[in-house]
Amino acid sequence: MKPSGLQPRWLPAALAFMSATALGGTVSFQKDVMPVFMARCVMCHVEGAEQENLSLYPDAWAQLVGVPSKESGLKRVEPGAPDKSYLYLKVQGTQLKAGGSGARMPFQQDPLTPAELALLRQWIEEGAQRN
Ligand code: HEC
Repeated sequence: MKPSGLQPRWLPAALAFMSATALGGTVSFQKDVMPVFMARCVMCHVEGAEQENLSLYPDAWAQLVGVPSKESGLKRVEPGAPDKSYLYLKVQGTQLKAGGSGARMPFQQDPLTPAELALLRQWIEEGAQRN
């Protein structure tokens, strides 16, 4: 899109579109999401020593998508609906409002960056694919 072709009245829509696709197309579970889990989560959510019965390694996808959370009535990940996905609420720190419990994740550590949160959000919005 050439800047000269951008009518001011289209600007809000264009900006919304650009932020939705700021990560450049479809998020990959393996290439984009897993590295965040590996860097920030697996030390406490690994098979054999998993907190809250959640293992994010080796098969995070199977433990998340469509699986009921232990702490709330929500699924851990509800494809297409980040705000109904308990994992997303936990990393955002809004789990209590949704009837959940416990702390923001990663537990007692710095929150995920805005870019990492946006990545998880986009992955869920795109249907939480195993891609
Ligand atoms: C230092 C250890 C630690 C780290 C790191 C950590 N967690 Fe947790 N996690 C816990 C503990 C302890 C609980 C249970 C208590 C609570 O919820 O506060 C928990 C619970 C959860 C739950 C609730 C599971 C359910 O079914 O109800 C989710 C979802 C979760 N963690 C996701 C994550 C994600 C995603 C990351 C990385 C971004 C992460 N955690 C990093 C320790 C950790």
